[in-house]
Amino acid sequence: MMMVSSKTFSSLQLFTLFYLFTVAFASTEETTALLKWKATFKNQNNSLFASWTPSSNSCRDWYGVICFNGRVNMLNITNTSVIGTLDDFPFSSLPFLEYLDLSMNYFSDTIPPDIGKLTNLICLDLSSNQISDLSSNTLDGSIPTSLGNLNSLSRLNLYKNNLSGSIPAEIGYLRSLTEIDLSSNTLDGSIPTSLGNLTSLSLLYLYDNHLSGPIPEEIGYLRFLTDLRLNDNILNGSIPASLGNLNNLTILRLDDNHLSGPIPEEIGYLRSLTDLRLYTNSLNGSIPASLGNLNNLTILRLDDNHLFGFIPEEIGYLRSLTHLDLCSNTLDGSIPTSLGNLTNLSVLYLDGNHLSGPIPEEIGYLRFLTDLQLYNNSLNGSIPASLGNLRNLQVLSLQQNNLIEEIPSSICNLSLLTILYLSRNNLKGKNLQCMGNISALQYVIMSDNNLSGELHPSICNLTSLQILDLGRNNLKGEIPQCFGNMSGHLEVLDMQHNNLSGTIPTILYLSRNNLKGKNLQCMGNISALQYVIMSDNNLSGELHPSICNLTSLQILDLGRNNLKGEIPQCFGNMSGHLEVLDMQHNNLSGTLPTTFRAGTLRSFNLHGNKLKGEIPQSLVNCKEMQVFDLGDNHLNDTFPMWLGTLPKLRILSLRSNKLHGPIRTLGSENIFNELRMLDISSNAFTENLPMSLLQHLKAMRTIDQTMNAPSDEGGEYYQDSVAVVTKGLELEVVRILFLYTTIDFSDNKFEGHIPSIMGDLIALRMLNLSHNGLQGHIPPSLGRLTLVESLDLSSNHLVGEIPAQFASLTSLAVLNLSYNHLEGCIPQGNQFHTFDNNSYVGNDGLRGFPHLKGCGTEGNDSESEKTDTGSELDEESNSEFLNDFWKAALMGYGSGLCIGLSIIYLMISTGKPIWLARIIVELEHKIMMGRRKKQRKQRSYRRSK
Ligand SMILES: *[C@@H]1O[C@H](CO)[C@@H](O)[C@H](O)[C@H]1NC(C)=O
Ligand SMILES: *[C@@H]1O[C@H](CO)[C@@H](O)[C@H](O)[C@H]1NC(C)=O
Ligand SMILES: *[C@@H]1O[C@H](CO)[C@@H](O)[C@H](O)[C@H]1NC(C)=O
Ligand SMILES: *[C@@H]1O[C@H](CO)[C@@H](O)[C@H](O)[C@H]1NC(C)=O
Ligand SMILES: *[C@@H]1O[C@H](CO)[C@@H](O)[C@H](O)[C@H]1NC(C)=O
Repeated sequence: MMMVSSKTFSSLQLFTLFYLFTVAFASTEETTALLKWKATFKNQNNSLFASWTPSSNSCRDWYGVICFNGRVNMLNITNTSVIGTLDDFPFSSLPFLEYLDLSMNYFSDTIPPDIGKLTNLICLDLSSNQISDLSSNTLDGSIPTSLGNLNSLSRLNLYKNNLSGSIPAEIGYLRSLTEIDLSSNTLDGSIPTSLGNLTSLSLLYLYDNHLSGPIPEEIGYLRFLTDLRLNDNILNGSIPASLGNLNNLTILRLDDNHLSGPIPEEIGYLRSLTDLRLYTNSLNGSIPASLGNLNNLTILRLDDNHLFGFIPEEIGYLRSLTHLDLCSNTLDGSIPTSLGNLTNLSVLYLDGNHLSGPIPEEIGYLRFLTDLQLYNNSLNGSIPASLGNLRNLQVLSLQQNNLIEEIPSSICNLSLLTILYLSRNNLKGKNLQCMGNISALQYVIMSDNNLSGELHPSICNLTSLQILDLGRNNLKGEIPQCFGNMSGHLEVLDMQHNNLSGTIPTILYLSRNNLKGKNLQCMGNISALQYVIMSDNNLSGELHPSICNLTSLQILDLGRNNLKGEIPQCFGNMSGHLEVLDMQHNNLSGTLPTTFRAGTLRSFNLHGNKLKGEIPQSLVNCKEMQVFDLGDNHLNDTFPMWLGTLPKLRILSLRSNKLHGPIRTLGSENIFNELRMLDISSNAFTENLPMSLLQHLKAMRTIDQTMNAPSDEGGEYYQDSVAVVTKGLELEVVRILFLYTTIDFSDNKFEGHIPSIMGDLIALRMLNLSHNGLQGHIPPSLGRLTLVESLDLSSNHLVGEIPAQFASLTSLAVLNLSYNHLEGCIPQGNQFHTFDNNSYVGNDGLRGFPHLKGCGTEGNDSESEKTDTGSELDEESNSEFLNDFWKAALMGYGSGLCIGLSIIYLMISTGKPIWLARIIVELEHKIMMGRRKKQRKQRSYRRSK
């Protein structure tokens, strides 16, 4: 066995030097031991270690191994992606090891106490990569006390692991140490006083641990220390005056601890200091004037303490300062004019103190200043015109002071300014006009002043502006027209409490984002809201009755969120002023409100919720109703024939509910005159198809040549949409929905014959009577439906032949007659050769099944149509019918998209709610996500079931 004590080492070294050329290979023991350790790595195929083989020369060929006198002297495998532990490291077999660097790997588990056997070690590095987390050692357990044996150790790096427990006092024996870095672990306990014996130490990093107790006075003995970082711990007690002995200290960081007491005057003796950070502690007393000696200081951060008294004039001597932060203390007195000598300053934060007096004109000398924050003090006087010299300034925050007089127009010279906060002062005057020159502005917050005059249209040139808050001033005149153009970039426009004239719509447009939370509740406070469009988000929680207080509300669109609970009864009252109530695709439950009033409601969409009970008869008061969609709920009622009296009703969808019973008319003359879409599919309606209903439906009997959608106000903000199911696809139809005429009675329990008057509904584009119990012949009159594109009579008990008149249905793209008892010949010609067997299967008596399909010229036509309209279109949906829908849906979304990208929030009365501010902040982070989501939404179809 080769056991070598440190005392015999130097003589042995001489001895082996003598044999330098005869002993060319490392000892077999070292080689074997390292191979054994390598065998425990979890990633054996690591190519860097391919050189580690028994047959190769470990001193010459092995990666990371350097020998001296034929013995392993250095093992440096930093950043080699090794996954392993130190459990089998050959500590006993490497007596000559001086340098051990295993940093930036994936070593885990504890540091074995045997490490104390590496008594010649000079450098021990088990740290992780500080820059990135790509390679991360996660050694845990405590630091073994046996480290105290490593008498020669000069550098000890264990940073960024999971080491816990306290720092062993034995480290104090390692008198050769020059660097200790134990930062970013979870070490606790106090800092051992024995560190004070390590008089060669130049660097001591213990930051980012859980160390508690006081800073030992003994640290003050470490006269060669240049860099001392004890920040981000829970150290308490006061800062020892002995630190004033550390003449060579350049960096002193004690920030983010629980230190109390005053800043020792002696800190002012540390003339080499360049970086002094004592922020976020509980330091009190005043700032020692001695700090004015620290000529080389570039960063001085004393913020977030309890410091009081004046800012010493001597701070003005610190001419190297680039960063001065004294904010969040209780400093008083005035801002010393000497600060005007700090000509290298780029950041000056004095905010959150009790400073009074004027802003010194001398601040205007600080030409490199980028960030000036003096807010939340008691500063008075006027804003010095000299601030206009700060040509590098990007942030100017002077809000919450007692500043008076006019804003100097020189401010408009600050062409790099992005943030201008002047709110809550007593500023007056009309000098806002030149603000349009500060083209970089993003946030302008000047609320709560006495600014007067009119808004200048040049403000509209500020194309980067996101927030413009001029609320609570004395602005007058009209809001320039061009303000509307700013809605593309503006997120907040707040001009409440002014004397502005003219009108502005009050709009909350936040749709298609990833907003979440339950904060809809306080929305009821923004009483001027007219349009609330927050569809396509993740909003949750229940609807609050206070929303009913929004008596100016015209559009309430909360569709496609996760709202739950009952719809408050008072929502019925809103039909007096609401035009649109859209809460489709949520989780709303309970019954519908029963008290709908006469008024403006034109669009009522609760599709896709869990509503139960009956359809409230009071809806008959809503004479303006055009779109009525209660589909996909659990409603349990008979057919609401009384809806027929709504003179403007165009779209009625009640599909997928538990509606039941026969459909009978009241004998009224004119019902459902304007109806163009009627979908009552997937219910439990019984008896005959409603003859008496079908004989009305006036709009379905005439072909509207103009094909124009009625103009709808607010269409810029809200588009009616309805889901149409055809050929297994559920399409969301937007904008064109007034152009399509459809009837869907499928999946009910209808019986009897198909009434031949159905042939009078010549405007129909889609007719679906499938999955019922219909009997008898197909009426030949259906051959008059020349516009019909999709006709589905499948899964009934129909008999007889397919009427020869069907051959004239030249628009037909989808035909399904399957699963009936039809017989005779399948008509030939025109569209018929494009239908395949699926259109007819399940009819025993039919003859002449098509064998060829999709090979004619018309097949090619529809193919080219498809490429024109959208390559994303599913190959199954290759009919022109679907193409039309697709085209139109894309148009609808196309226009919605531009608007969707802007978030407009205009508020004229009442306070700014906190929830909105929060939403806006969240929005900034989410906007990119939102855009991606929107692009996906363009694929406005999805498979149903
Ligand atoms: C190990 O090697 C890396 C370069 O590969 C070097 O930066 C580092 O200083 C070396 N470690 C020791 C202890 O010499
Ligand atoms: C530090 O040094 C002093 C005197 O040299 C000695 O009394 C003390 O025990 C030492 N402490 C440690 C932990 O090394
Ligand atoms: C500080 O460093 C200088 C050299 O830069 C050296 O001469 C001086 O002795 C050091 N001070 C102390 C207290 O060690
Ligand atoms: C201050 O910095 C200058 C330039 O870097 C250097 O020459 C000087 O020694 C420093 N002063 C002190 C007291 O460290
Ligand atoms: C600021 O500089 C001027 C001119 O160099 C000098 O007169 C004044 O004393 C300086 N003040 C401070 C506090 O440094």
